[in-house]
Order: sequence, then structure tokens, then C-alpha cells
Amino acid sequence: MKLENREFNYEVIDEIKTRWSPRAFDPERTVPEEDLMGMLEAARYAPSCFNEQPWRIIVGRRGDSNFERIKAALTDSNREWASSASVLMMILSVQNFEYNQKPNRWHLFDAGTAWGYLSLEAERRGLITHAMAGYSRDQIREAFGVPEELSIIAAVAVGYYGDKEALSPKNFDKEKPSPRKSIQEILYQSRMED
Ligand SMILES: Cc1cc2nc3c(=O)[nH]c(=O)nc-3n(C[C@H](O)[C@H](O)[C@H](O)COP(=O)(O)O)c2cc1C
Repeated sequence: MKLENREFNYEVIDEIKTRWSPRAFDPERTVPEEDLMGMLEAARYAPSCFNEQPWRIIVGRRGDSNFERIKAALTDSNREWASSASVLMMILSVQNFEYNQKPNRWHLFDAGTAWGYLSLEAERRGLITHAMAGYSRDQIREAFGVPEELSIIAAVAVGYYGDKEALSPKNFDKEKPSPRKSIQEILYQSRMED
């Protein structure tokens, strides 16, 4: 399958080729427990500094109170489409190392890796994922009693692809994979003389 805006000059694993962030979630389908657990298993096996595994994940299934609390904290523009997801998650991260309570400068890096693993495993299982920065951190902190030692990083919608036609005209126009910089553009050019 060839996706718009996706051009690969080098071979990579299939899920990297096909994953993108849709908004057209199917409001009827639910994610089997086995698939949800498989996604969390993938996140669990992400590498991390000192094997700290700083990521923590709140899971809400459509219809339960976690889902409602996450949904309520989303920005209006995200809530519009993310309400149709089967699962809403919050990705959190522990800021200090457990073994000495010193700040872990890599906790966000590691939690990002875990979300990346989770999204690729979801893709492998025929699910779609869409991360969101648009939500109220204060509302999540209060709704779930998240202590200050944990960063609240991102919300994630998970589910099945539904009907693109059901999106608002604005979201319908955005419903395609985003383009990417070239490899040349992401290679850092040293400003120092050789
Ligand atoms: C941390 C993070 C925050 C994001 N926040 C939002 C958001 O609030 N709303 C939204 O519609 N998309 C959001 N996105 C989706 C990005 O816009 C999308 O991943 C990016 O354009 C790349 O497109 P692709 O995932 O389809 O490849 C977010 C993605 C990430 C990783």
C-alpha cells in the first residue's frame, strides 16, 4: 500500500512505513484486552537509562471513568475526534531515579521510546494511535491525583479506523500522513572546523 506523503528510500520495518496519526476513529469497535495488553507489553520492553522504566500509563476504555476523565481534559479540537477512540491513555513519567532520587535527565526520552514501541505494536495489530499534546495538564493531575514527581507528557487515542466522511470538514482535509524532512535535514552539521 502506498500512503500519501510517504516515500522510503531505504528498507524499514513495515509498521514504520504504514503508521500514521489518523483522526477517523470507529466509535463502535472496542479493542480486545489481548491487543491492549500487547501494546503495553511492547511499551514495557522499551530501553531506558539505568533500566529505570520511568513511563507510567493511565488507560481508559470507552465507557469507563478513566476514559471520561481523559476525554474531559482534552482541548475541544482534540475531543471532537478523539471521543470516538476505543481507548484513551495518558503517558506519564517519573522524574527522579528510584535508586538515588536524583533527577533523571532522560525520563522524557525513555517515555517517548515507550510510546513509540506501543504505537508500532498497535499498528502491527491493526490498530491506529494518535498522540496529543492538546489537553489540560492541571485537569489530568487533579482528576487522577498525579503527584508532582511525575510529568504528564501526552494523551494517546487508540482504536480502529472508521469513516473518514464522518469527520468535520477541517479534520477531513487533514486526514492524511504528514510529510517528513529528508535524512540530510535531520543530520546535524557541526559548526566546528574539522
Ligand atoms: C507528542 C505529540 C503531540 C501531538 N499532539 C497532537 C494534538 O494535540 N492534536 C493532534 O491532532 N495531533 C497531535 N499530534 C500528532 C502529530 O501532529 C503527528 O504525529 C505528526 O504530524 C506526524 O504525523 P504522523 O503521525 O501522521 O506521521 C501529536 C503528536 C505527538 C508525538
